[in-house]
Amino acid sequence: MELKGLILSGGKGTRLRPLTHTRAKQLIPIGGKPNLFYVVEDLVEAGIRDIGVVISPETGDEVREALGNGERWGVRLTFILQDAPLGLADAIRTAQPFLGDSPFVVYLGDNLLSGGIGHMLETYRRQHCDSVLLLTEVEDPRAFGVAVVDDSGRVTRLLEKPQDPPSNLALVGVYLFKPVIHQVIATLKPSGRGEYEITEAIQGLVDRGLAVEALKVRGWWKDTGKPEDLLDANRLSLSQIGRRIEGELEEAQIVGEVIIEKGARVLRSTVRGPAYIGPGALIEDGFVGPYTAIGKNARLIASEVEYSILMDESEVLRLPYRLDSSVLGEKVVVDGSGNTRRHTLQLILGDRSRVKL
Ligand code: G1P
Repeated sequence: MELKGLILSGGKGTRLRPLTHTRAKQLIPIGGKPNLFYVVEDLVEAGIRDIGVVISPETGDEVREALGNGERWGVRLTFILQDAPLGLADAIRTAQPFLGDSPFVVYLGDNLLSGGIGHMLETYRRQHCDSVLLLTEVEDPRAFGVAVVDDSGRVTRLLEKPQDPPSNLALVGVYLFKPVIHQVIATLKPSGRGEYEITEAIQGLVDRGLAVEALKVRGWWKDTGKPEDLLDANRLSLSQIGRRIEGELEEAQIVGEVIIEKGARVLRSTVRGPAYIGPGALIEDGFVGPYTAIGKNARLIASEVEYSILMDESEVLRLPYRLDSSVLGEKVVVDGSGNTRRHTLQLILGDRSRVKL
């Protein structure tokens, strides 16, 4: 039976406030593209064409609007509402009518990895196992689901965010399951944090003597759940960006791997890659340094920025300092014009904004 895909895109993204006050964390642009687009592309590349997207009441509409019906990727997308944030296993339970009797790949919408998931499907087809998990070694496993794996690559034990981790292998948020997982989920009880844990469901497969195989991520992996991870994920995804210049250049110096989208203008400025300049953006008398992504219709005028994300329609104007390691949300304005009184700042910031000088 053909594999289906299930993208989990609910949650409130509390750890990413203020950025997630107004937007789903899975839609934050990384390397010029919403995180969710990379997730869809990984599934599509693995040959999956029928994809469900679990959404929450808070951010469901914007997720639906951003992804559309899947036409852009030649796939079918079905949106499934999870009423309350009761955990990843509950999201799978909610999606059961969509999944039916198909085996499926669950992919968390705020995860980002390189190297794709093709090897998971190959393993599944070759070994006829009941589940395949993707793992990676991490420094501090206490923040993740952790797996213990035997010499043959079989998973023998799983723990969610253990205080005393039995290994440094974290679950990266991509899982392949046969429909038997639904039977295990039906028996779960809420965990200490009040959620139905996917990790416990997989432990249930192991306890029933079913075959759970583990594979490592081929390249790098990022869970973009925290602000510092966004910039690092941006760096990683830009580092493979290539060079494509479709915008308008005038007295511009474009160095290295840079994408300048159609309708963007770079005037009397330097863009030193890897960098991404979105459609309709304007860079004038400016400097865009390595690992920076500038969103659609954003403006950078007489200012310098490096290792940062400027989201759609944001503006940085005549700033006397170089912006570094910064994330500006949509339509944010940072304006240094008319700064006649040195050493003063005027700030109009939304809830939970953060300024670091
Ligand atoms: C979830 C899973 C955890 C996994 C992580 C990967 O954690 O419960 O096992 O390691 O995703 O991103 P959460 O992000 O819900 O804390």
